[in-house]
Amino acid sequence: MGIVRRAVLDDLPALVALEQFFPGDRLSRRKLRYFLKAHADLWVFEEAGAILGDAVVLYRQGSPAARLYSLIVHPTARGRGVAAALLEHAEQAALDCGCLLMRLEVREDNLAALRLYQKHGYQVIGRTADYYQDHGSAIRMRKELAR
Ligand SMILES: CC(C)(COP(=O)(O)OP(=O)(O)OC[C@H]1O[C@@H](n2cnc3c(N)ncnc32)[C@H](O)[C@@H]1OP(=O)(O)O)[C@@H](O)C(=O)NCCC(=O)NCCS
Repeated sequence: MGIVRRAVLDDLPALVALEQFFPGDRLSRRKLRYFLKAHADLWVFEEAGAILGDAVVLYRQGSPAARLYSLIVHPTARGRGVAAALLEHAEQAALDCGCLLMRLEVREDNLAALRLYQKHGYQVIGRTADYYQDHGSAIRMRKELAR
């Protein structure tokens, strides 16, 4: 099994490559580079030298809520706990930064992701119609991190 670690600038090509597995609303190389340069918390799952998934968490100064902005696992590595490991690291880091909540948006037809978040204690707090580029709707979810 691999490890979860913080992403570094050298991971940029791998992060860009993973974006192709999103059906839409992909992060550009430019945006990923911006996030890597200390504007976000980026986590990667690495196994045998390969980056199999990543998670992007955004913070806003003065806000008690961190935002899980992106989470992706390479199709060949799905179903074996990679997303769960990334999510747990992201949550722990947010907690360590003093955040009390993690919030996120997920497509309402993305059953795998909805199941993942529900299993990890996220609760539905609302729905936003026409959220994605293709006009798909988002479910908004939230989890209290503080125990
Ligand atoms: C959603 C996604 C990140 C899950 O990654 P993963 O590494 O396969 O997930 P895990 O193996 O860690 O699964 C953890 C839990 O998620 C749920 N889950 C994951 N894939 C699932 C699927 N295909 N169907 C139903 N539940 C699923 C399960 O509850 C699973 O726990 P279990 O195996 O004990 O039942 C992955 O499918 C993906 O990258 N999808 C495309 C990008 C995406 O949708 N990202 C989320 C955007 S909000």
